[in-house]
Amino acid sequence: MDLHRRIKKYLRKHISKKRYIHTLNLTKLALKLAKHHRIKKLSEIETAALLHDCGKGLGDCDKHSFLATKIAKKKFSVKDKDILNAIKYHTYGSRKMNKFSKVIYVADISEPSRKFKEAKRIRKYAFENLDKAMLLALSTKMKYVLDEKKPLSLEGVILYNKLINRRLR
Ligand SMILES: [Fe+2]
Ligand SMILES: [Fe+2]
Repeated sequence: MDLHRRIKKYLRKHISKKRYIHTLNLTKLALKLAKHHRIKKLSEIETAALLHDCGKGLGDCDKHSFLATKIAKKKFSVKDKDILNAIKYHTYGSRKMNKFSKVIYVADISEPSRKFKEAKRIRKYAFENLDKAMLLALSTKMKYVLDEKKPLSLEGVILYNKLINRRLR
């Protein structure tokens, strides 16, 4: 069985139906975005998209991106750094994100089943400029985190500052 079919089979067994539908929506959007931004590693984008939430529902929810990275390595023998980083950074962001990771991040936050009000705008920006979409995604997430009185991700803040400063120059 090929890798993507194997992953889907695993997901149907291990994550909720709602999470599985989110994963398929994200995969579709991430592939569209990757083509639009001329990323050549489309099969790898699909692998990252399918695996990004595979750790959800197992253990600590706040750490699901790190758990998913481990599962990708151990269970599916993923070695590609772009895939592993995109999975690892999809919740909190990182200053080390490249175009590949940004596609997964913005597709995750703005796929069509996301119902909060900025989702549509993030999705629209994502086809214009990935960094513009990242900025709105990061600020939306930060506002939510502040409202919920949860801790901010330092890496997310660093990335936000990096993108804001670049835009001002
Ligand atoms: Fe996630
Ligand atoms: Fe997700």
